[in-house]
Amino acid sequence: MALKEITLEELQPEQFIAEQVEAIRSIVGSSTAINALSGGVDSSVVTLLGHRALGDRLKTYFIENGIMRQGEPEYIVSLFTKLGIPVELFDARAQFFGALKGLTEPEEKREAITQTFYKQVFGALVKESGAKYLLQGTNYTDVEETVAGVKRQHNILEQLGIDTEAAFGYKVIEPVIQLRKPAVRLVGKALGLPEAIYNRPPFPGPALAARVIGEVTPDRIAVVREATEIVEHELKTTGAFQYLAILHADKVTGVRAGKRDYGLQVEVRCWESSDAQTGQPTRLPYETLERLADRITSEVSGVVSVTYNITRKPPSTIEAV
Ligand code: XMP
Repeated sequence: MALKEITLEELQPEQFIAEQVEAIRSIVGSSTAINALSGGVDSSVVTLLGHRALGDRLKTYFIENGIMRQGEPEYIVSLFTKLGIPVELFDARAQFFGALKGLTEPEEKREAITQTFYKQVFGALVKESGAKYLLQGTNYTDVEETVAGVKRQHNILEQLGIDTEAAFGYKVIEPVIQLRKPAVRLVGKALGLPEAIYNRPPFPGPALAARVIGEVTPDRIAVVREATEIVEHELKTTGAFQYLAILHADKVTGVRAGKRDYGLQVEVRCWESSDAQTGQPTRLPYETLERLADRITSEVSGVVSVTYNITRKPPSTIEAV
């Protein structure tokens, strides 16, 4: 891969920030840019770098795709507003659920999300705003995994030979593409992001859709969203790299109030990792696992089974889709 990583040891955050701000300014010139803030570390860092470079010539959107966590759009928009960065909420729920309807294959779902993001949503926003550039938070691991053929991350375009200008009508700028997650966090800290953001566990671009096996519908997203709330609440003090809930496609027989209840299965994963390239499941205390099972089966409607995944990456991946 021609792209060169800037390792954590090599990174000098202040110098990196100055260089990226300069690079964004020189590429965009007197033109304008847009970016989508998801609230993850990568897109938050890019939002701050972009605003330093371009001020109000960068317009930041939060795309409400319907597949985010509970309360996420409001939380992120208000947090960045407090940081002095206006963020416009763009409702694209109908487009995303429309594109995902009937799809069950992981790569087809990812492709549907990619096309909806880049063609439909950003295509329309670029047209509306007159911007020529899209800033996005692709990082080194995203590129590496996609190029190696592990999993096509939804935000990889040019590295796969996609000419975004021809395909979608805008150019993509990727300021943190040479950094892995720990280095992005250091840059976030140096930029003055609150710790709640720069130390946030990673969350995938395709959001909860990466955690629904089989068809992604508003109802199935609601189930995984509620289970995610519980898992994040119960595991936030573990210090683990990432923890998540996955909704399975198949049902299993359970029993409730003495009657057969053919219901849903949720799988919990909790990872120790430094860069998401490899990972080990956290050795959670049994009491924690029991509490997760009790809470998810009693609070999330329709769930009769909760499992904990004990597989390492590889051969597992962190997400299920
Ligand atoms: P996997 O599942 O490939 O995940 O082991 C590695 C890391 O990347 C995140 N992830 C994604 N992030 N778009 C993203 O922006 C994606 O399509 C995607 N898939 C996985 C995952 O949460 C983990 O941190």
